[in-house]
Amino acid sequence: MPIQFSTARRAPARAEVVAHGLTTEVLTGDGPLPAGLDRGDLGRLGFTAKVDQVQVVPAAGRLVVAVGLGPADRVDPDGLRRASACLARAVRGRRSLALDLASVTEAVPRPEAARAVVEGTALALYRFGYKSTKDEDRLSRVTLVGSTAAGVRTAVEQATAVVEGVKLARDLVNEPGGSLTPPKFANRVRRMARDRGLTVKVLDEAAIRRARLGGLLGVSRGSTQPPRFVELTWTPKGRPKGTLALVGKGLTFDSGGLSIKSGVGMMDMKMDMGGAAAVVGAMSVLPVLAPRCRVRAYLPMTDNMLGGDATRPGDVLTIRNGKTIEVLNTDAEGRLVLADALSMASEAKPDAIVDLATLTGACMVALGPRIAGLMGRDDGFLAQVEGASARTGERVWRLPLPADYRRMVDSPVADMKNIGGPHGGAITAGLILGEFVADGIPWAHLDIAGPAFADGDDCEVTRGGTGFGVRLLVDLACSFTSGG
Ligand code: BES
Ligand code: ZN
Ligand code: ZN
Repeated sequence: MPIQFSTARRAPARAEVVAHGLTTEVLTGDGPLPAGLDRGDLGRLGFTAKVDQVQVVPAAGRLVVAVGLGPADRVDPDGLRRASACLARAVRGRRSLALDLASVTEAVPRPEAARAVVEGTALALYRFGYKSTKDEDRLSRVTLVGSTAAGVRTAVEQATAVVEGVKLARDLVNEPGGSLTPPKFANRVRRMARDRGLTVKVLDEAAIRRARLGGLLGVSRGSTQPPRFVELTWTPKGRPKGTLALVGKGLTFDSGGLSIKSGVGMMDMKMDMGGAAAVVGAMSVLPVLAPRCRVRAYLPMTDNMLGGDATRPGDVLTIRNGKTIEVLNTDAEGRLVLADALSMASEAKPDAIVDLATLTGACMVALGPRIAGLMGRDDGFLAQVEGASARTGERVWRLPLPADYRRMVDSPVADMKNIGGPHGGAITAGLILGEFVADGIPWAHLDIAGPAFADGDDCEVTRGGTGFGVRLLVDLACSFTSGG
């Protein structure tokens, strides 16, 4: 059951745990501390109000908890999200929690603080697994103490919806490649779309052939599982303020194909549909937040296997837009399926396209596990993506797409080859994708190979699929303006 969030002026008497966010200033100052907290006790327990510090204070009756928020002038939504996540983990065995952030009312507008708290607590307690014995969390009610203003309540409602979208994306990523096959992935998306009132169209293998999606067919050739291509549409009421296209890499498992990965390199490759999962998660939230623009999603789904008729290194594929790619490494398959999807998206002439893909190990080498690479064309649109990133705390970092690097993917037999040289792998992948976005359409590419999957729990991030991109995409759709 999802956690129920509510707002109240004071902590409800029935709340089992009452938590107080404390800035360093409040802790070291000489004003009164909230009831149940004592400077001397907190000092002896080593509590200094650092972010991530959560100190449970044993008291008669209910539990009182001090939550560190750091220096007042540096409190921001990211810190509040982290602090709330730490708090939720510390009290996951209790049924009800009231959290009072009185000490930061000046620093962060209340609706933004509420959003961060909802995201932090709910996402930290996400679980997935096939264990036969389950340890269940009990936390089911969280009250945000302070303002009950309409703006705060709306923020809580919207954040709750976004959290469900992130959890959906995590569920999809965490599902093993053998059970979430392309047809099953497509069916789950179709069911979600019908539940939420989104338009959905699923192309099966025959339809994909008729649509000449040569990249998707080439990758799926080594598999006994048929591919799928799913289109989803959110249509707002009234005249849409532009159209935003979302494209997500949907490799339900990436073995590398004939250019097979190592055992270790393959271990987490059920996550190679993290881009498609983030797009699906974001689309599932749009009916609640109701952005004014139309949003169309394009999701190529396949696995990358090595059956007897798998694509061979040296084979040449013809993509939907007519361009040809020489496949020299079958493990560089994401760009092949995205090439078709970006061509399809371009044909509908949207005002902008953003794609998300677990595309290159090189991007992880460059930016580490928690930051996505951002590439593309059109500074205005890339700035919109950076704005959505800053507001949601899903970090991105710009990488260039230098025109003179294009020759790294020149092929003697086709329009391009699917790999560059030993260096700049995230960039050469981005340059290949750019060949399939029609001229003049603003385009952003997010390489989420790092942040889509986590090795372990860390604040609001849980081990496995992270749902990275859902929050950013929802914010982008809600703030999108075409032509700037
Ligand atoms: N799905 C992988 C990229 C990846 C690697 C995602 C690690 C997450 C974690 C992608 O299909 C791939 O294998 N890319 C190759 C490209 C290379 C062959 C040019 C890579 O990055 O090694
Ligand atoms: Zn691969
Ligand atoms: Zn891949």
